[in-house]
Amino acid sequence: MRKMSTVLMLGCLFVCGCPFMPPPGPPPAAVLEGTWSVIPEDPGEFEGWEYEAKFNSNGDLVELSGVRPEDGATARLTIDDATTELEGSDVVITLPDLTGARVFEGTLSDDQNTMTGSVTDQIDLGDLEASLPGGELTFERITNGDPCDDVTCEVGESCVDGECIPDDPCADVTCDPGTVCVDGECVPEDLCADVTCPTCETCVDGVCEPLQGDPVAGDAFYAANSCAACHGDNAEGAFGPSLIGTDCITNYNELSGIEEHTGGTVDGVTEQDAADLVAWYDSL
Ligand code: HEC
Repeated sequence: MRKMSTVLMLGCLFVCGCPFMPPPGPPPAAVLEGTWSVIPEDPGEFEGWEYEAKFNSNGDLVELSGVRPEDGATARLTIDDATTELEGSDVVITLPDLTGARVFEGTLSDDQNTMTGSVTDQIDLGDLEASLPGGELTFERITNGDPCDDVTCEVGESCVDGECIPDDPCADVTCDPGTVCVDGECVPEDLCADVTCPTCETCVDGVCEPLQGDPVAGDAFYAANSCAACHGDNAEGAFGPSLIGTDCITNYNELSGIEEHTGGTVDGVTEQDAADLVAWYDSL
């Protein structure tokens, strides 16, 4: 009995997870994903610059960039060694590979959309004119990490993964004679030229699809070939079996002579005739 309960407990630990382990899920810093603008409270010599900080889906800082709208000057620094720690609302960002102490320490607001804190040293953005000053800084979230958030596309284009692509992929494509544009690629005009489909299927744009039947045509075919004499007025069965629920292939095979059929074959029967019959049976 005792052994049994140990096994049960172990089983539960594996299945339910250990209550002392941290809960699964993304690291807490992941909530920082997105683009944040950096507003120096006392810009000093950096006046006129607008800074942005991008955090990836792990919440790590991956890019710092600055623009000076006045003259269009830009500076950009790609960061691949940052670590971001978020404990409660305390944020600590470390950039170990840059010279000097490059650390941001701050606090994330309750709505998680601003971070206020201090940069302990000036961060060089790879352009002496554009550095992030040390001192108090506020980061304000401007996008949530969707690369299309700050992309505006022209009419007829949509943003996909941050890039504007034409809505109609064939809009800018001109194909050689004998070819047509499909999904932005030029393909031979008759996609069905080399396609042979199974019985009761037909080729549409190079793909075999079930033949669609017309119940009115099926009714007419049934009447014209005196099927009712053996299968009943409404295909419900008489001397011959009920045809309700039979499929296109069965009808085609019976009437074309591929299967032996007491009622015989019908001259010139087509797969479309069989599909029409089935559509009619299904409508009854
Ligand atoms: C002379 C009587 C007779 C006529 C007319 C006749 N059938 Fe039949 N049919 C039968 C009999 C009996 C069977 C069952 C045995 C067999 O397959 O021969 C049958 C079987 C079938 C089956 C196979 C049913 C199954 O469940 O496998 C189909 C489909 C069928 N007939 C369709 C038709 C259609 C459509 C017509 C009109 C174009 C028609 N038949 C005309 C007597 C007839």
